[in-house]
Amino acid sequence: MNRENYSEAQGFIVTYKSLNEPLLFNELNGRCPGLKLLDRGEDSAAFTVPDYAAVVSEIRREDFIFLQHIHPFMCKCEITGSASDFSEFAKMLEGIRPYVAKEDTLTCQCRIAARRMMEYSNGELTNLLTSLLEKENYTVSLQDADTAVSLTIFDHFAYLGISCLADNCSDRAGGVLFYSKTDDIICRAEFKIEEAFKVFDVNVTKGMKALDLGAAPGGWTHYLSKRGIFVDAVDPAELNESVVRRENVAHYKMTAQEFAEKYVENAYDIIVNDMKMDTNESIDILCDMSRHLKTNGICLLTLKLPKQGVQKRINVARKVLSSKFEIVRVRQLYYNRSEVTVFVKNKLS
Ligand SMILES: C[S@@+](CC[C@H](N)C(=O)[O-])C[C@H]1O[C@@H](n2cnc3c(N)ncnc32)[C@H](O)[C@@H]1O
Repeated sequence: MNRENYSEAQGFIVTYKSLNEPLLFNELNGRCPGLKLLDRGEDSAAFTVPDYAAVVSEIRREDFIFLQHIHPFMCKCEITGSASDFSEFAKMLEGIRPYVAKEDTLTCQCRIAARRMMEYSNGELTNLLTSLLEKENYTVSLQDADTAVSLTIFDHFAYLGISCLADNCSDRAGGVLFYSKTDDIICRAEFKIEEAFKVFDVNVTKGMKALDLGAAPGGWTHYLSKRGIFVDAVDPAELNESVVRRENVAHYKMTAQEFAEKYVENAYDIIVNDMKMDTNESIDILCDMSRHLKTNGICLLTLKLPKQGVQKRINVARKVLSSKFEIVRVRQLYYNRSEVTVFVKNKLS
């Protein structure tokens, strides 16, 4: 799929956490000129845009914090919510065929974001589009896809588009993830770090050293130690027994402030911080600890958002962190609830 085809996009669909809709709309309107709100669904909205390629460039320049997924749409049709819509979807698919290259590996991502019941499911729509494309000898594969054919269903209209999967902010429809809760998982927080590592493209190798601030009950420490990383886990609360027993985990049963005063001797490759505390305080502690971060080291932290003044709080956090670190990225990820995840990279000295 050639990005030049973005010039054919009439607009785009964004998906987000409903609670943060106003924050995302502010970000979009402030950074993308000429947007018009066209339609709205459960946790998604459609905008028209004069130049979708400019939106993609803007996302690449700096993340939109509250955006979980985006796809362009080249076609739109009216729907009834019954199986009679299928012929309309097939027609729309014909409409985007000129933009699909035979060498593309496609994934069909269908999502019902309507506020009313439909007579079909996401899975049925995905099967429909997949079978129509396969009939025309296109390669459709979940694993190695580079191109997304995305269909989003609102109450009265459906929107279909094609895009490079890498431009969608998530390689899952609507940014929705389904990590499976195996017996090996300590707590849901483990999914947060797994998602963050993927989104921020964090590469780790065996033998690295990590500091985990606010480590209990131990999900993040567990995730890191399973990858062969030595973890100093700091939290006054208890860690899960199976985590404490791991050879490459040391639990410091104290606050991060106490640890900073007494124990820090190591240079760390990674510092993670999921402490439940005021964002300003949490950032001050991290900035102080950054003395112990190796050149090229990285930090991952969550900021627990206040009820009011969220944007201002994030702006302050970004400013303080930017004075200390080279790269600062902030995103609300799928597994974040009332928080955002921040990724920072140490300055090269
Ligand atoms: C959301 S939990 C962390 C979950 C953890 N990341 C995991 O994967 O299991 C927040 C933790 O922050 C810890 N915490 C709060 N204030 C702290 C402080 N000053 N120093 C260290 N830990 C603190 C709490 O004890 C709590 O266990």
